[in-house]
Amino acid sequence: MLDLKRQYRPLHRELLDAVEAVLEKQHFILGEPVAAFERAAAGQLGVAHAVGCSSGTDALWLALAGAGIGPGDAVVTTPFSFFASVSAILRAGATPVLADIEPTTFNLDPVVVECVLDGPRGAAVRAILPVHLFGQCAGWTSLSCIGEDRGLKLIEDAAQAWGAEWKGVKAGALGAAAAFSFYPTKNLSAAGDAGMVTTNSEDVAERVRMLRQHGMRRRYHHDEMGWNARMDGFQGAILSVKLKYIDGWNHARRAAARRYHALFHAAGLAEAGPYPVHGAVLPHEVPGSRHVWHQYVIRTPRRDALRDFLVIRQIGSEIYYPVPLHLQEALKSLGYAEGSFPEAERAAKEVLALPIFPELREDEQQTVVGAIAEFLS
Ligand SMILES: Cc1ncc(COP(=O)(O)O)c(C=O)c1O
Repeated sequence: MLDLKRQYRPLHRELLDAVEAVLEKQHFILGEPVAAFERAAAGQLGVAHAVGCSSGTDALWLALAGAGIGPGDAVVTTPFSFFASVSAILRAGATPVLADIEPTTFNLDPVVVECVLDGPRGAAVRAILPVHLFGQCAGWTSLSCIGEDRGLKLIEDAAQAWGAEWKGVKAGALGAAAAFSFYPTKNLSAAGDAGMVTTNSEDVAERVRMLRQHGMRRRYHHDEMGWNARMDGFQGAILSVKLKYIDGWNHARRAAARRYHALFHAAGLAEAGPYPVHGAVLPHEVPGSRHVWHQYVIRTPRRDALRDFLVIRQIGSEIYYPVPLHLQEALKSLGYAEGSFPEAERAAKEVLALPIFPELREDEQQTVVGAIAEFLS
């Protein structure tokens, strides 16, 4: 599914030098290695401030709390994401309100968001938290209009989308604040847990810096309830090295996605969609958006049987996500039930992520598509 060693091998010497420099200086928490990464990251994204932190989950909480979202506020997000998109809202003391997804992109559907805002749960909503799922930005033109019209803040969950763009603007520079994850499987990855908040607001950045360090502006003077959400020096140093290569890696992911498209079409398996009938509905890049293909996710009707078949062939695949968030045991108290979000529920039964990473070879992709063709025939 993902071979991280292929990324590591050519960078081996450079990464060891970066780690050694941290050891020499003994800058283990925040400090210059993290500050240098923050500067370079902000420059690459075209955003005024980048604040390194301990994980993508903490980055989401920091982005929300830094933007002033807290108790009494509600935040609209998607039921088709990783758990942290919703748990971070709860941790900020706010209430998650869910809205269904578009079947073609799996991202928050702006039309449904409007309906939810006009519905009984809409009155307390202060922010929208769109997730740029699988590496493609959520429909920002419509979502930002909704935000502007209704005076709502937009906070991006950009955990899977380093380098993605919407109409030439990078994910991370679109909303009031954004959260990134550098979990090792992400397209820009650390050697452990790490995350980042980006924002163009001086005020939000200042609050995030304060909150990631126990609510301290001055040492041992705690202005607010913050937490320990700091980034390690090792992670900052490693990420600074990888940041130089991420454009090329994203480029290679885009080439791999194009190859999958061509192979599926050549095998006669590609269906128009949005729902599959016999074959596979291929993922869709929205015009004006630059997808970075963190995942290449097809829809197929006999998904579980196909996955079992691929396991026998020793071909990696994954289901993101098998259980939508409103049906998670831990989120029962949100008050939703089966049937609340039909698109998310249907997607959870049909999606299958295929191997995609920059170093994936064409012959490996042929093997993947060949095995799927054999199963479907
Ligand atoms: C969409 C999304 N949001 C948030 C997170 C949380 O990031 P982390 O695992 O770094 O805490 C992840 C990654 O796992 C994610 O995929």
